[in-house]
Amino acid sequence: MGVGLRYRRDENAMKIKPTGAALGAEILDVDLSKEIDDATFNAIVAAFHEHEVVFFRDQKLTPEQHIAFSRRFGELELHVRVDCCRPGYPELFVVSNVIENGKPIGSLDAGLFWHSDLCYMGEPSRGSLFYAHEVPLQDGRALGDTLFASATAAYNALPEETKQRISGLKAVNSYEKGYYRDRKSGGRKPLTEEQKRRTPDMEHPIARTHPYTGKKCLFVNEGYTSRIAGIEDAESESLLSGLLAHATEPRFIYRHQWRVGDLLIWDNCATQHLAIRDYELPQRRLMERTTVRGAAPF
Ligand code: SIN
Repeated sequence: MGVGLRYRRDENAMKIKPTGAALGAEILDVDLSKEIDDATFNAIVAAFHEHEVVFFRDQKLTPEQHIAFSRRFGELELHVRVDCCRPGYPELFVVSNVIENGKPIGSLDAGLFWHSDLCYMGEPSRGSLFYAHEVPLQDGRALGDTLFASATAAYNALPEETKQRISGLKAVNSYEKGYYRDRKSGGRKPLTEEQKRRTPDMEHPIARTHPYTGKKCLFVNEGYTSRIAGIEDAESESLLSGLLAHATEPRFIYRHQWRVGDLLIWDNCATQHLAIRDYELPQRRLMERTTVRGAAPF
């Protein structure tokens, strides 16, 4: 797909290059370390809503710049796993396999199952801004890709009878389920009472309406959705497993191969994602994420 010129401001131009997959676009010619004027920011937001995942290559951001740009999208969440945040920056959730002084510097095992960030909260995240500091390489090829699945494309492709079946139904999203599932891959302490208190199970509509675009999104994921509320266990199991398999079919997926300096924004209503763990130390991966607060699903 070609590079389309969508926005022009005097001598500066922002270009948007769709990935050619069901979702995703690269935004070119924007330096996020500089002041972003409102018109440019609005054009970025419009591209984000249209493409669901947008990314900027070759950025050089300080933690303050990463946080400041993220705040343009809304208030930032402070992650329930405070031990995984960058010291002095509670807004920056560190995802890394790096060990320093015998301790992981961030979350060793984030995102190894399909999920959308904070779907288990009453107000799931609007979007996340992920910045690549270090990317593992093998023979010059990047490892540690992230897969993104479009929840709008998945919803649209459902048979009409399934759309009717799920209309009005809610699913239970459980932090504890995801936490203990990820914990099997190692390194996590049991949840504290405070973490449990902050993350009771939450019911959200399965066919969720995107708060900005009005599009319907299939809002269930393998990582945290534990069951469908209000129906028998066997029926819940069969309906949920069918929806989960459908949501991540290859036709709905964009696979992002990271480069150092990438700043990528994903929409936590219109997409879900999965981190690929195909690297080991001494191959280092160091990423930092801000998580923008969202609204209660409807
Ligand atoms: C995450 O789910 O926040 C991490 C994704 C990744 O490491 O690629």
